[in-house]
Amino acid sequence: MTLRKPLLSLDLVDIPLFRKGKVRNVYDLGETILFVATDRISAFDVVMQNGIPEKGRVLNMISAFWFGQTRDIVENHMVTVNIDDMVREYPVLEPYRDILDGRSMLVKKAKPVMAECVVRGYLSGSGWKDYQKTGKICGIELPQGLNESDKLPEPIFTPSTKAEVGHDINISQEQLKEEVGGKVFDFIKEKSLAIYKKACAFAEERGIIIADTKFEFGTIGKKIILMDEVLTPDSSRFWPRDEYKPGGPQKSFDKQFVRDYLDTVEWDKTPPGPELPEKIVQRTSEKYLLAYKVLTGKEL
Ligand SMILES: Nc1ncnc2c1ncn2[C@@H]1O[C@H](COP(=O)(O)OP(=O)(O)OP(=O)(O)O)[C@@H](O)[C@H]1O
Ligand SMILES: [Mg+2]
Repeated sequence: MTLRKPLLSLDLVDIPLFRKGKVRNVYDLGETILFVATDRISAFDVVMQNGIPEKGRVLNMISAFWFGQTRDIVENHMVTVNIDDMVREYPVLEPYRDILDGRSMLVKKAKPVMAECVVRGYLSGSGWKDYQKTGKICGIELPQGLNESDKLPEPIFTPSTKAEVGHDINISQEQLKEEVGGKVFDFIKEKSLAIYKKACAFAEERGIIIADTKFEFGTIGKKIILMDEVLTPDSSRFWPRDEYKPGGPQKSFDKQFVRDYLDTVEWDKTPPGPELPEKIVQRTSEKYLLAYKVLTGKEL
């Protein structure tokens, strides 16, 4: 299979940039914003030199899939991922039709609820670190004697701050309640857990464990909606179910080849990230396409 050339950067002249993340460029269209997922890939929070063909489209379309699947639980910001609809609404996008097609989502602009709504079903990452130190995550008491990557008795809501720069910091549910108010807190906690449970069961049946994930909510008027990206490999830990072996860290469904490669080179985990060999790029691209196919049952 010949892969399309990956898109690392883009510049939509005349359209104001709303934000540039590690992976996505976000454009301000007034009442709406346009998310464009590039093919950039990060590992250990650093963007690599090369892109992964198809990754942007996969990320965008996985998010779109889940927004559709979870609409019955909570309203979300997605307007369309259809390029014709976007261009009809915003003719300024016409010159960029080919670049944007498949990798972009037009969304309603919301006022962010300043919290990362993390849900964990398994013990990993910063949750595992906190548990080892305190026996708790975000103030939630957990059974004793759990091992790394163990499945938790129940998924838990472990919010963190939304840091402008640097790492997000885990906070207690009480802290979050104080910050956003009881009503908003109850709503985003309940919705986060409900979406995770539904998605987790769905994915696990198809061979992917969603160990944990992060949701973001925003408000439009009085309404609270789900925004940002949902249940993608970039906002979640995806593990291959068939290789799940608690008692240590797990293989990442999508980034394993990249991480394995990075273990073999000398690199201090600070930018710039290294150049990935073609073989690693190719195999990682195949993984992303596979994730899409496994979850949605369709080829991209
Ligand atoms: N509907 C929306 N309305 C307004 N802001 C939104 C909406 N959806 C998402 N956002 C915000 O847009 C921003 C997208 O940034 P993005 O995730 O690409 O980069 P980042 O979070 O700064 O870094 P990283 O690449 O590490 O994720 C986030 O701050 C998110 O909260
Ligand atoms: Mg982000």
